Amino acid sequence: MDLRRQYDGIREEVLAAIARVCDSQSFILGPEVEALEGEIAALTGAAWAVGCASGTEALWLALVAAGVKPGDSVMTTAFSFFASASAIVRAGATPVFVDVEPGTLNLDAVLVGQQLRTQRPQNLRAILPVHLYGQCADMDRFDRIAQEFEVAIVEDAAQAIGAEWSGRGAGALGVTAAFSFYPTKNLSAFGDAGIVTTTCPRMAEHMRQLRNHGSPRRYYHHEFGWNGRMDAIQAAVLRVKLTHIADWNQKRRQHAATYDQLFAGSGLTSIRTSDQISNQSNAPVRLVARSPQAKHVFHQYVIRAQRRDELRKFLADRKIGSEIYYPLPLHLQPVFSYLGLKAGDMPVAEQAAREVLALPMFPELNEAEIRCVVESIAEFYS
Ligand SMILES: Cc1ncc(COP(=O)(O)O)c(C=O)c1O
Repeated sequence: MDLRRQYDGIREEVLAAIARVCDSQSFILGPEVEALEGEIAALTGAAWAVGCASGTEALWLALVAAGVKPGDSVMTTAFSFFASASAIVRAGATPVFVDVEPGTLNLDAVLVGQQLRTQRPQNLRAILPVHLYGQCADMDRFDRIAQEFEVAIVEDAAQAIGAEWSGRGAGALGVTAAFSFYPTKNLSAFGDAGIVTTTCPRMAEHMRQLRNHGSPRRYYHHEFGWNGRMDAIQAAVLRVKLTHIADWNQKRRQHAATYDQLFAGSGLTSIRTSDQISNQSNAPVRLVARSPQAKHVFHQYVIRAQRRDELRKFLADRKIGSEIYYPLPLHLQPVFSYLGLKAGDMPVAEQAAREVLALPMFPELNEAEIRCVVESIAEFYS
């Protein structure tokens, strides 16, 4: 990814916004953060947003506000960034990992439902689906699960700003949701930042206190919060970029369509219908499936490749960047050995970890570059 291309296009706007904060000499929370909170609430369709220090912090705020406390358990995907699970631990709870769908690689709601029917984890307080790579998890099924089992759905929407499920925005699909503005995200700060959204004013107020040492009033503390506040400079930068996000996400979708077409044309993989991509074939390259209900924002464009590591090296030799999200599923991370899980327990996530490869994807990418990536992959398999 080339962040400089984005910066070159918005340099003057961003520098003016930073200068505005410097002139105000108000650096933490304040009017810039409040304005951003209103704008993100409007974008997602959630009524409230609470700016904070990172996506990881946002996950912790969301979980605690949803009622997760020490001794509880929270179900989540075995195939995500570490923070999806470490935030659960930081809230004092135990993660219960569940495998992912073979097509989308999102948390498998059918498996979650089966486990809840047969062996509901003790003190289950919440389920944390992750909208992996910018595509929403199956929120119809999670809605039904929330009602049937009376459990809160907390979205990890870190990779999914602007994404939708059946016309509803990520961030307004559960009781609360966490977003990351890490510099490589679709909407990115000039450092660490994150935000939590919710449709519940009480939860929003709770999260505002938690991010500020659990303090409803200066120097009075009702519970243990933390310093999880957002910087005004980050909010100012994000507000500039927010005016471009719809366009940038649309460009990502166009690039994904170009990749899809070129892959289909190369004979490396096959597209079954416009919105569903075959995952059954033995093609050397398979694409992560798209849910018809999802408006995908392609934080990543991910293929599943035979001889993935050799392919990655082949591309690197041609100066084509690629990345593996994620090489080791969460249940096999050494730090979670206390859960007693082993290789073979989450076969879909484990296979994905051996096959996934994220290809160059950012709004300023051009068609010639995409063509070069696909041609190089075709050359590798020829
Ligand atoms: C799925 C997911 N969850 C949580 C996070 C944590 O966000 P941050 O890096 O802003 O703390 C990230 C991003 O890195 C992520 O991709």
